[in-house]
Amino acid sequence: MEEAGRERDRAAVAAEDLGVSTKDTAVVNTKPAKRYPLALWIAILGLIMLVGVYIFSLSLKQNGMLFGLMQTNLIEKEREKPCHDPSIPDTEIPYLHYPMPNTYDRKECACTGVRFFAILSMQRSGSGWVETLLNSHPNISSNGEIFSVKDRRSNITAITKTLDKLYNLDWYSSAAKNECTAAVGLKWMLNQGLMKHHQEIVEYFNRRGVSAIFLLRRNLLRRYVSILANAHDSAMKQLNGTHKAHVHSKHEAEILAQYKPTIDKKTLITELKRSDKLASDALVNFKNTRHVVLYYEDVVSNRTMLMDVLDFLRVPKRKLSSRHVKIHTKRLCDHIDNWADVNNFLKGTRFESFLNGSRR
Ligand SMILES: *[C@@H]1O[C@H](CO)[C@@H](O)[C@H](O)[C@H]1NC(C)=O
Ligand SMILES: *[C@@H]1O[C@H](CO)[C@@H](O)[C@H](O)[C@H]1NC(C)=O
Ligand SMILES: *[C@@H]1O[C@H](CO)[C@@H](O)[C@H](O)[C@H]1NC(C)=O
Ligand SMILES: *[C@@H]1O[C@H](CO)[C@@H](O)[C@H](O)[C@H]1NC(C)=O
Ligand SMILES: *[C@@H]1O[C@H](CO)[C@@H](O)[C@H](O)[C@H]1NC(C)=O
Repeated sequence: MEEAGRERDRAAVAAEDLGVSTKDTAVVNTKPAKRYPLALWIAILGLIMLVGVYIFSLSLKQNGMLFGLMQTNLIEKEREKPCHDPSIPDTEIPYLHYPMPNTYDRKECACTGVRFFAILSMQRSGSGWVETLLNSHPNISSNGEIFSVKDRRSNITAITKTLDKLYNLDWYSSAAKNECTAAVGLKWMLNQGLMKHHQEIVEYFNRRGVSAIFLLRRNLLRRYVSILANAHDSAMKQLNGTHKAHVHSKHEAEILAQYKPTIDKKTLITELKRSDKLASDALVNFKNTRHVVLYYEDVVSNRTMLMDVLDFLRVPKRKLSSRHVKIHTKRLCDHIDNWADVNNFLKGTRFESFLNGSRR
């Protein structure tokens, strides 16, 4: 029996010699010894697989590996297409498209690659002006505030359907160019369903290779003055009975700038906080898209910054022009009726710098 404890072979032999009762114990001893490791192995293997899947899914989420995988897939597909230009680097392929519009033929431009973009902005932040500048480029077509129409943004299905049509070059607007459009996009306000459906929209942007151009305003107090003045004109229709959100002459700008709003403290602080948060949330939500961030004030003081946007869209550089004339050009104290109060409201708050800031 001592030997049986040491070596199994011998134990089996010994068990046979010793009769049934010992045989039974031997069987009892060896059977679980065989079964147990097998079950354990399966359990460990299963556990390893589970942990593996878990870590993989985590890395997918965190490192955008999923996006990477999708891109590889996309690049392979793109390589097989007839328009593919071998000189285009792999990194550009997800952003280069060859749409085939349903409404017309791109003819000799069928193989002119098209970039998709979206100007993400807020009301009264200079996006109208920047859009006209971009549209003065022969290869850029920015189709305005498509999502100002509620039906088009009532749910994510409606949004993607609208975007699909736009990016397939089937959207008809005054910005529609010829068949050689090389960059197509729209102007999209953060409060037009963009933030509400940001997850799905980011997914769409990454899946379809849409580049985002953020256009924000540094001085939110100036923006608020512009909002109030625009609302006033909307009601008063100061230019010969028509409301104009943007003007094309100095004369018109002067008339609109004559109105000096009186600003209520509570609404002012609420509004500044709200718009500040909206802008910073948008930057966080869209940080994993291909994007560029522009500030209106910077573009006003340095138009050359728009050349960076042309670069970003990979269209040839050229001089851009717009007929838009800036409305509020003076110091803020000349545009606010209760300036002394506003000055007091904001002193010591994080918005104090807006008081002084630039003239823009
Ligand atoms: C820009 O448009 C012009 C005129 O339609 C066309 O000849 C040219 O090929 C286009 N350029 C690019 C880069 O798409
Ligand atoms: C989405 O919105 C459109 C337009 O408002 C509507 O026709 C459609 O039924 C909606 N779809 C869903 C799934 O809610
Ligand atoms: C209003 O209309 C008149 C006549 O059409 C024109 O001369 C004038 O410039 C207009 N004023 C503005 C502010 O547009
Ligand atoms: C204007 O913008 C361009 C492009 O971003 C930059 O290279 C240049 O230094 C800027 N000029 C000034 C005066 O800030
Ligand atoms: C603006 O800044 C200057 C100096 O930086 C300061 O003397 C002045 O009081 C400031 N004005 C306001 C309205 O904050």
